[in-house]
Amino acid sequence: MLNIEAIRAQFPALHRQVAGQPAVFFDGPAGSQVPQSVADAVSHYLLHVNANTHGSFVTAHESDAMLAEASQAGADLVGATDPDEITFGANMTTLTFALSRAMAQTWSKGDQILCTRSEHDANVSPWLLAARDAEVEVQFVPMRDDTTLDLDALDELLSDRTRLVAVGAASNATGTRHPIATITAKAHAHGAQVFVDAVHFAPHALMDVTAWGCDFLACSAYKFFGPHVGLLWGRREFMEALPAYRVRPASNEIPDRWMTGTQNHEGIAGTIAAIDYLASLANTDESLSRRQALALAFEEIKQHETPLLQRLMTGLAELEKITVWGIRDPARLAERLPTVSFTHADHTPLAIAQKLGERGIFVWDGNYYALEVTQSLGLEPDGMVRVGLLHYNTEREVEHLLGALRALG
Ligand SMILES: Cc1ncc(COP(=O)(O)O)c(C=O)c1O
Repeated sequence: MLNIEAIRAQFPALHRQVAGQPAVFFDGPAGSQVPQSVADAVSHYLLHVNANTHGSFVTAHESDAMLAEASQAGADLVGATDPDEITFGANMTTLTFALSRAMAQTWSKGDQILCTRSEHDANVSPWLLAARDAEVEVQFVPMRDDTTLDLDALDELLSDRTRLVAVGAASNATGTRHPIATITAKAHAHGAQVFVDAVHFAPHALMDVTAWGCDFLACSAYKFFGPHVGLLWGRREFMEALPAYRVRPASNEIPDRWMTGTQNHEGIAGTIAAIDYLASLANTDESLSRRQALALAFEEIKQHETPLLQRLMTGLAELEKITVWGIRDPARLAERLPTVSFTHADHTPLAIAQKLGERGIFVWDGNYYALEVTQSLGLEPDGMVRVGLLHYNTEREVEHLLGALRALG
């Protein structure tokens, strides 16, 4: 079992107060808080290292070593065996635009790209724009009524013209998980590549590019207790062959050919610390590899998050005026993450977020860039209220939220 009090003690932000009450951070899907160890790693790099790469002096060597360690940590996090397959960048959106621009150079008129209606727009717009440039068609896999992806429709849409399926590991709006291994097998049967947006998934469960069989995956450290840094994994053969947009003097080796300009070294140092923080949650005396520790840690996270999600769902179900959008069946909670979006019969999402915000409960409202989701559900322009639970949240906080919602009438 996770020792939540000891964990919370590592996160200075969790001790903030709003209007004399402890702040409740249910805004994790937009960005998690960081433990002290992450801030220490960032500050250590800035104050004691802070150099460019490939120089002939000690701080440059230390920067090279830090980046090599970060690649290994990233590979351990996503389940890759080759650290050179890890690229860091500004954020998932920027990395995905860079990848999409390069991929578009390899597509031909008449090819087809598949997106889904369950995506954050960072896994839609890059493909729409790349497809426009390459004169390639884009089709969307719809959601079923329960917000799961319609895999029968995927079967119908896939053809030998399909070059790419872009799919999220989980929706940042509904929390619905997508069956990546199944989708990958279907796509590969038609010779299509699979790009996975794991940004929302990453703080909750173990990513596994090997088991999923996908070709590319992107996530963001600031969603898994790290700094504002994006991470892209891609199969070596593709990352080496794709025509990356780069400056001429830069190395053409992976990952350098994708890591344009000087990177956010301090953020990358903090990303190592974030991955090590996650591994530390394994809470065992056994000596484990970082990957093994991460696997155990995510089991512990699930053990903590699941009862919180159950309590949140039963509490919301008792509130007649609230409609939860997404998987509601208590028997199917394993198919979703503890991110819950809802609307209220009498109050707009913005009004609810503001009322809760005044009470120190941080939730998001709107579409959180999951535009395809809110459009499909007919919920534009107001969107939904989103409550995102992370492992540092507590049952007391969930009860506090439910009490505040009950008070809305
Ligand atoms: C599911 C999902 N994908 C992509 C993104 C974009 O990530 P970034 O801010 O790193 O570009 C987000 C951010 O909220 C997200 O939730």
